[in-house]
Amino acid sequence: MTHISSWRSPSNIALIKYWGKHGIQLPNNPSLSFTLSACHTDMTMHVTPGSSNPQLNVLYDGNERPAFEPKIKSFFNRIADQLPWLLQSSIMIDSINTFPHGAGIASSASSMSAMALCLMDIDSQVNARTDELKNAAWWNKVSELARLGSGSACRSVFPVAALWGEVSGISGSSNSYATPWADHVSSIYHDYQDSILVVSNAEKSVSSTEGHELMSGHAYEETRYAEARKNIHTLIESMKTENAIDQFISVCESEALQLHALMMSGKKPFVLIEPASISIIKEVWRFRNETNIPVCFTLDAGPNVHLLYPASYKESVLGWIKTNLVPFCADGFFILDEVGTGPQKI
Ligand code: PMV
Repeated sequence: MTHISSWRSPSNIALIKYWGKHGIQLPNNPSLSFTLSACHTDMTMHVTPGSSNPQLNVLYDGNERPAFEPKIKSFFNRIADQLPWLLQSSIMIDSINTFPHGAGIASSASSMSAMALCLMDIDSQVNARTDELKNAAWWNKVSELARLGSGSACRSVFPVAALWGEVSGISGSSNSYATPWADHVSSIYHDYQDSILVVSNAEKSVSSTEGHELMSGHAYEETRYAEARKNIHTLIESMKTENAIDQFISVCESEALQLHALMMSGKKPFVLIEPASISIIKEVWRFRNETNIPVCFTLDAGPNVHLLYPASYKESVLGWIKTNLVPFCADGFFILDEVGTGPQKI
């Protein structure tokens, strides 16, 4: 018998950055992210358990992609103790991302969370359990499996916002899986906008694994983890209301710049931002000062700039992007995304 599952799962953008890990994707500091919407992966998985000669077949948009197989095989080996049928099954996976490869959007977050969802859904089918999708423990397990695939993927499984990593005073927070955070943030953050300015669509020159490694023995290692812990408390407080947006902006921008400052000050330093990223940052500050529109930026591990702002400013910000920021984007390319409602069974 073949079991089939299809899920749509979004990418996410960290506001407090996970940078530095130990064990199998266990974070050295807590992080908090917005779950995105337009940037997502659609995945379908076919699983035939009990196969005498188990095969793995990985496709992207219907075309064979054997290059993806080693990473998926090592992920499956890592989680096989939790899903006993996994290594004795023939599996076919087909997926597609809505965002272009190399756009600097974390495709590992959307694809690994989609994979964790398909696997957990099929686990319920194999064990003939129903109604588990409503169960918080089930979602924690999905988040944990996603983390074992790619750390930050664990945050993609919850709507609006997710917190990952132990935070003092927050019961239930865990290094193993993310905690849903939508109920802890003001409604203005439920449809917050994220416009992604694609400064470069070149392949990442430094993998996130290399980036995390740079933190061990970094001169600012302990200072950074202490900063992240302090920032997460400030951010959590600021997001409870719509009246502390200045504080929200200050923490977001400081986190983004710290991430890149850490890269530039490691033992084997690297620079991922481009001149255009800096020009955009300066233009964000000019525009915000002159208009009082509360738009701010964050950065991932790359040169592209995420503009974050309340939905009520959509029109003015879009006009400004088109006139002042498009010249800094590669081929004028940008993506209009927003905070979303989390994964969806399709
Ligand atoms: O999940 P990874 O190993 O790709 O690391 C993600 C690291 C950052 O994107 C820079 C920050 C984060 O918290 O997402």
